[in-house]
Amino acid sequence: MKYKILTLLLLFSVISSAQQTLNLIPKPNSVEIKKGHFVLNKETVILADENSFEAKYLKEQIKNQTGLDLKISSKFKSKNCIQFGIKIPDTTNFDREYYNLNIWKSKIHISAFSNKGIFYGIQTLLQMIPYSKLREIRLNEVSIFDQPKFQWRGMHLDVSRHFFPKDFIKKYIDYLAMYKMNTFHWHLTDDQGWRIEIKKYPKLTEVGAWRNGSMIGHYTDQTFDEIRYGGFYTQEEIKEIVAYAKERHITIVPEIEMPGHALAALASYPEFSCTGGPFEVGKTWGVLEDVFCPKDETFTFLENILTEVMTLFPSEYIHIGGDECPKVRWKSCPHCQKRIKDENLKDEHKLQSYFIQRIEKFVNSKGRKIIGWDEILEGGLAPNAAVMSWRGTEGGIAAAKQKHFVVMSPGSHCYFDHYQGEPKNEPIAFGGYTNVEKVYSFNPIPKELSPEESKYILGAQANLWTEYINTPEHVEYMVFPRIAALSEVVWGTSNPKEYKEFEKRLISHFEIYDKKGINYSKAIFEVTSKVHPAENGVAFELKSVNPNGIKYTIDGSEPNSNSFLYEKPILVTKNQTIKAAYFENGKAKSATIEQPFFITKSTGKKIELVHQPHENYGIGGSFTLVDGMKGNTSKFGRDWLGFWGKDMNATIDLGKTETISKISINTLSSEGSWIYYPKSIGIFVSKDGKNYYSIAIVSSKEIHENKGKIIVEFDKQNVQFIKVIAENNGIIVDGKPGAGSNSWLFVDEISVE
Ligand code: ACM
Ligand code: ZN
Repeated sequence: MKYKILTLLLLFSVISSAQQTLNLIPKPNSVEIKKGHFVLNKETVILADENSFEAKYLKEQIKNQTGLDLKISSKFKSKNCIQFGIKIPDTTNFDREYYNLNIWKSKIHISAFSNKGIFYGIQTLLQMIPYSKLREIRLNEVSIFDQPKFQWRGMHLDVSRHFFPKDFIKKYIDYLAMYKMNTFHWHLTDDQGWRIEIKKYPKLTEVGAWRNGSMIGHYTDQTFDEIRYGGFYTQEEIKEIVAYAKERHITIVPEIEMPGHALAALASYPEFSCTGGPFEVGKTWGVLEDVFCPKDETFTFLENILTEVMTLFPSEYIHIGGDECPKVRWKSCPHCQKRIKDENLKDEHKLQSYFIQRIEKFVNSKGRKIIGWDEILEGGLAPNAAVMSWRGTEGGIAAAKQKHFVVMSPGSHCYFDHYQGEPKNEPIAFGGYTNVEKVYSFNPIPKELSPEESKYILGAQANLWTEYINTPEHVEYMVFPRIAALSEVVWGTSNPKEYKEFEKRLISHFEIYDKKGINYSKAIFEVTSKVHPAENGVAFELKSVNPNGIKYTIDGSEPNSNSFLYEKPILVTKNQTIKAAYFENGKAKSATIEQPFFITKSTGKKIELVHQPHENYGIGGSFTLVDGMKGNTSKFGRDWLGFWGKDMNATIDLGKTETISKISINTLSSEGSWIYYPKSIGIFVSKDGKNYYSIAIVSSKEIHENKGKIIVEFDKQNVQFIKVIAENNGIIVDGKPGAGSNSWLFVDEISVE
């Protein structure tokens, strides 16, 4: 027995050291590395049918990487060859994506149950072959057994907000293939442009694919250019792309948005709206009020479109959108109200459900299934629909409990339009903060689900919305390297506890990106920070890829190689600005991060919340409100707590009686993102934590006049406890973005002086 354990341990250490040297992403299920080598040289033959796509693909990639131009031949050879073998499935439970890669001294052998598995074996092999022009390449003898955990390993791309040409879409597909992703969710229609040719409705692209200007700068600035912008894919181009993806074992799931995000379609065919228009293709973005009117003619229109879409795309699932559909127009539309009455529907939310269910019936009648954003749960889920959970994982959990299939894509971990580094050092992005480590920490199976319910989780995907992204290079920047982290999550071999080990492998892939000319983010080298409560202030903890390379200053000056070397969390007890950067060989390898601190009597003190913030905007918990760091009002990023439909009700315990005379608090408004100022802010104080008296009730008007930055000054009070209640705006009223939905409430630093 003892002996057995010992060999097991030994085997394990061999495996882990193998992983380190091989730097494979996603990490295979099992790797055994041996002592010998296979020598790849110009005599090596790819033993396969000359028409085999996999063989041609491998040949071309090896040529690109090494310059070696290998022959493909079906003439048997027992040595110096790369051989593929398709196994006959011998059990009922075989996994088509499985592969086994063996590198022996004499040959390389990839076996699988299908060409898909062979293709994944090739991807693994290619990651082991260096990018350098060598006459001979020594490859470690290895034995790899591998298969993915999740069947939906997806990446999304929005081509409506900005259009990306056919050749870049192919590149994007290659990027997915490189990391064994198998699903490309192509967001083809939205308010800002219709991007797919539909023969029956030519105006969709003649009119709907073009807009008379685009937003420039940040959403809050609301500035636009007047340049005509657009583009679309012809059906011929789409066929070419679908075929290209198929060869690479990638399914394209097209998305045709309905009933909301339909302005480009309505600009082309206003008769399918509630008001009759006229409309212009959207220049601004957000959640717009003109949506499809659920009258019979609209369904005929959409069914004809979907018929052409299903002819072009062979995917099992067709994405029909379903998200962010305001109900304002429906409320005052005679057609809609008649439909509600005739169909005995309770309200407009049931009408949305009616809409989706009717479309589902049609799609099902063609032998396909629908998938939609998690709003399709509202008013009752269509019987066979799959749900893409984006507003957190709650929608996915609810759907799985109802035995519906789910793809997890929560904003918190899977929105690649969020920042991945310090916002000040990054191109403008959406406010969230989703760095590589955050992506890597994602578990598509929420703990709320039983093993039985978990079977409904098909997998996960990352979404790339392109409101702020208008070039292929910028797409690459947002995707790389986060896609690598996601690929390991969906392959099922990620281990957030060993993030550092993943990070080493990831950094080795930067060389591949450099060689391929991919524009990737180096934010991973940036110093990251965390604050913790500390005696009389806060402790500022810094991290980087190498803990011994951080230099920092405390006087606002730019760090250089002679600045303080970071050794342990920096104690901050007074107002000061800390700047830090990561250095290698005396040179800064990252942009500088900068953090001003405002230390007041509430900083670092105990704080309790009655309602918890939403998981997407509450990383730091209640301490975020007293961490001495004021959020930047132009970005609702990680410094803010976001409450979805709930009040912020916080109690701060100063620890002892203090004399105070000033309290400040910040809240945000960004109505296009459904973020509204609170209706009121109440401030109460207490000596004993039981009996509170009011200091101020700040009205909505005052909050608006002060742009959310509230400072309340009062006569000196000796108190220990402070309660601040910011009242959520509640259900958004008609005529405002997000009407009928909950409001977001964003709150930051509560300072007490
Ligand atoms: C979404 O991000 N509106 C699905
Ligand atoms: Zn209507």
